[in-house]
Amino acid sequence: MKNRNNNAAAGATRLSLSLPNGLAVDLDALVAAKGAASRSALVADLVRDAVVEHRSRRGRQEIAGTITLVYDHHARNLQAKLTGIQHDSEGLIVSVMHVHLTHHDCLETLVVRGPADRVRTLADKLAAVRGVRHGKLTITTTEHKE
Ligand code: NI
Repeated sequence: MKNRNNNAAAGATRLSLSLPNGLAVDLDALVAAKGAASRSALVADLVRDAVVEHRSRRGRQEIAGTITLVYDHHARNLQAKLTGIQHDSEGLIVSVMHVHLTHHDCLETLVVRGPADRVRTLADKLAAVRGVRHGKLTITTTEHKE
Protein backbone atom coordinates (compact mmCIF):
# COMPACT_ATOMS: atom_id res chain seq x y z
CA MET A 1 0.00 0.00 0.00
CA LYS A 2 2.76 2.38 0.97
CA ASN A 3 4.67 1.65 -2.22
CA ARG A 4 1.61 2.22 -4.32
CA ASN A 5 0.93 5.61 -2.74
CA ASN A 6 4.50 6.68 -3.32
CA ASN A 7 4.41 5.70 -6.97
CA ALA A 8 2.87 8.81 -8.48
CA ALA A 9 3.30 7.71 -12.09
CA ALA A 10 1.44 4.42 -11.66
CA GLY A 11 -1.13 5.56 -9.07
CA ALA A 12 -2.41 8.84 -10.44
CA THR A 13 -5.04 9.84 -12.98
CA ARG A 14 -4.47 13.09 -14.80
CA LEU A 15 -7.55 15.34 -14.86
CA SER A 16 -8.28 18.61 -16.55
CA LEU A 17 -10.78 20.89 -14.85
CA SER A 18 -12.01 24.45 -15.02
CA LEU A 19 -12.42 26.86 -12.12
CA PRO A 20 -13.76 30.42 -12.07
CA ASN A 21 -10.81 32.85 -12.20
CA GLY A 22 -11.26 34.04 -8.64
CA LEU A 23 -11.37 30.52 -7.31
CA ALA A 24 -8.20 29.58 -9.22
CA VAL A 25 -6.41 32.52 -7.56
CA ASP A 26 -7.76 31.37 -4.20
CA LEU A 27 -6.51 27.84 -4.88
CA ASP A 28 -2.98 29.08 -5.57
CA ALA A 29 -3.05 31.22 -2.43
CA LEU A 30 -4.17 28.19 -0.43
CA VAL A 31 -1.38 26.05 -1.91
CA ALA A 32 1.13 28.68 -0.78
CA ALA A 33 -0.45 29.23 2.64
CA LYS A 34 -0.63 25.54 3.45
CA GLY A 35 2.79 24.78 1.99
CA ALA A 36 1.30 22.09 -0.25
CA ALA A 37 3.65 20.45 -2.74
CA SER A 38 1.43 21.40 -5.67
CA ARG A 39 -2.12 22.22 -6.73
CA SER A 40 -2.61 18.51 -7.35
CA ALA A 41 -1.52 17.60 -3.83
CA LEU A 42 -3.87 20.15 -2.28
CA VAL A 43 -6.83 19.18 -4.47
CA ALA A 44 -6.19 15.50 -3.63
CA ASP A 45 -6.31 16.36 0.09
CA LEU A 46 -9.55 18.32 -0.35
CA VAL A 47 -11.19 15.53 -2.34
CA ARG A 48 -10.06 12.91 0.20
CA ASP A 49 -11.58 14.95 3.03
CA ALA A 50 -14.81 15.37 1.10
CA VAL A 51 -15.06 11.63 0.40
CA VAL A 52 -14.49 10.73 4.05
CA GLU A 53 -17.03 13.32 5.16
CA HIS A 54 -19.54 12.18 2.56
CA ARG A 55 -19.30 8.52 3.59
CA SER A 56 -19.56 9.31 7.28
CA ARG A 57 -22.78 11.21 6.81
CA ARG A 58 -24.78 8.53 5.08
CA GLY A 59 -27.07 6.11 6.77
CA ARG A 60 -29.62 6.19 9.54
CA GLN A 61 -27.35 7.45 12.29
CA GLU A 62 -29.00 10.24 14.26
CA ILE A 63 -27.07 13.48 13.88
CA ALA A 64 -27.44 17.14 14.75
CA GLY A 65 -25.79 20.08 13.08
CA THR A 66 -26.19 23.27 11.12
CA ILE A 67 -26.74 24.10 7.48
CA THR A 68 -25.33 27.49 6.54
CA LEU A 69 -26.45 29.18 3.33
CA VAL A 70 -25.42 32.42 1.67
CA TYR A 71 -27.58 33.66 -1.15
CA ASP A 72 -28.66 36.74 -3.08
CA HIS A 73 -32.22 37.45 -2.05
CA HIS A 74 -32.80 39.33 -5.32
CA ALA A 75 -32.38 36.09 -7.29
CA ARG A 76 -35.68 35.13 -8.89
CA ASN A 77 -37.83 32.71 -6.87
CA LEU A 78 -34.84 31.77 -4.74
CA GLN A 79 -36.36 32.47 -1.35
CA ALA A 80 -39.62 30.74 -2.29
CA LYS A 81 -37.70 27.63 -3.37
CA LEU A 82 -35.64 27.55 -0.17
CA THR A 83 -38.75 27.98 1.96
CA GLY A 84 -40.58 25.26 0.01
CA ILE A 85 -37.76 22.77 0.55
CA GLN A 86 -37.70 23.62 4.27
CA HIS A 87 -41.45 23.08 4.59
CA ASP A 88 -41.04 19.67 2.91
CA SER A 89 -38.48 18.63 5.54
CA GLU A 90 -40.86 18.09 8.41
CA GLY A 91 -39.23 17.41 11.75
CA LEU A 92 -35.64 17.96 10.62
CA ILE A 93 -35.32 21.70 11.18
CA VAL A 94 -35.14 22.80 14.82
CA SER A 95 -34.54 26.49 14.25
CA VAL A 96 -33.66 29.00 11.54
CA MET A 97 -31.69 32.22 11.86
CA HIS A 98 -31.73 34.69 8.99
CA VAL A 99 -29.25 37.58 8.83
CA HIS A 100 -29.40 40.32 6.18
CA LEU A 101 -25.66 40.27 5.55
CA THR A 102 -25.33 43.00 2.91
CA HIS A 103 -27.69 44.81 0.56
CA HIS A 104 -27.75 41.70 -1.65
CA ASP A 105 -26.75 38.77 0.49
CA CYS A 106 -28.60 36.85 3.15
CA LEU A 107 -27.00 34.42 5.55
CA GLU A 108 -29.23 31.66 6.82
CA THR A 109 -28.32 29.10 9.45
CA LEU A 110 -30.59 26.13 10.07
CA VAL A 111 -30.16 23.96 13.13
CA VAL A 112 -31.05 20.45 12.02
CA ARG A 113 -31.50 17.11 13.70
CA GLY A 114 -32.44 13.70 12.36
CA PRO A 115 -31.20 10.66 10.42
CA ALA A 116 -27.92 11.43 8.62
CA ASP A 117 -29.22 10.55 5.17
CA ARG A 118 -32.26 12.84 5.46
CA VAL A 119 -30.23 15.73 6.87
CA ARG A 120 -27.65 15.35 4.11
CA THR A 121 -30.33 15.22 1.42
CA LEU A 122 -31.88 18.41 2.81
CA ALA A 123 -28.50 20.19 2.81
CA ASP A 124 -27.74 19.05 -0.74
CA LYS A 125 -31.14 20.22 -2.01
CA LEU A 126 -30.76 23.66 -0.42
CA ALA A 127 -27.20 24.13 -1.66
CA ALA A 128 -28.19 23.08 -5.19
CA VAL A 129 -30.83 25.80 -5.59
CA ARG A 130 -29.69 28.21 -8.29
CA GLY A 131 -28.44 31.44 -6.72
CA VAL A 132 -27.14 29.89 -3.51
CA ARG A 133 -23.51 31.02 -3.36
CA HIS A 134 -22.42 28.87 -0.53
CA GLY A 135 -24.02 25.96 1.27
CA LYS A 136 -22.35 24.02 4.04
CA LEU A 137 -23.50 21.28 6.37
CA THR A 138 -21.63 20.99 9.64
CA ILE A 139 -22.59 17.99 11.71
CA THR A 140 -21.97 16.51 15.07
CA THR A 141 -23.18 13.15 16.25
CA THR A 142 -25.76 12.94 18.98
CA GLU A 143 -24.43 9.57 20.10
CA HIS A 144 -22.22 9.37 23.17
CA LYS A 145 -18.72 8.10 22.62
CA GLU A 146 -17.07 6.26 25.48
NI1 NI B 1 -32.03 38.75 4.22
